[in-house]
Amino acid sequence: SKANATNGAKLFKTRCAQCHTCDKDGGNKVGPNLHGLFGRKSGQVSGFTYTAANQNKGVIWKEDTLFDYLENPKKYIPGTKMAFAGFKKEQDRNDVIAYLKESTAK
Ligand code: HEM
Repeated sequence: SKANATNGAKLFKTRCAQCHTCDKDGGNKVGPNLHGLFGRKSGQVSGFTYTAANQNKGVIWKEDTLFDYLENPKKYIPGTKMAFAGFKKEQDRNDVIAYLKESTAK
C-alpha cells in the first residue's frame, strides 16, 4: 500500500538515526550524513571514510536503488561496513524511503 512517511520517520529514528543524520548541518556519525542523498552517487560525502565497496558501487541513490539496498545492505554492497540487517517488509522500505526523500531534500 501507499508509503507512509510518518511511519518512515519512526523507523528512521529507531533503526537509522544512531548512525545517520539527514540535516544539512547534521554531520557524519558512524555513517555518512544523508543530506542531499537523492540523485547522488554512492560514496560521495566529504569527510567520511567509506569502504571501497561502498565507494565503488557506482549507483545513484534514488527510490529503486534504495529499495534494493535497504532490503539487505550486505547483499547489495558486499563488503560494506554498514551494520544494518535490512528491512524484509517492502512497506517498511517504502515508508523509510518516503521519509528520506523529504528529510534529506536540499
Ligand atoms: C552507508 C542509509 C542504518 C552505518 C549508508 C548509505 C545509505 C545508508 C543510503 C550509503 C551512503 C552513501 O553512499 O553516501 C541507512 C538507512 C538506515 C541505515 C536508511 C536505516 C534503515 C545504519 C546503521 C548504521 C549505519 C544502523 C550503523 C550501525 C553506515 C555506514 C555506512 C552507511 C558505516 C558506510 C558504509 C561503507 O562505507 O561501507 N547508509 N543506513 N547505517 N551506513 Fe547506513
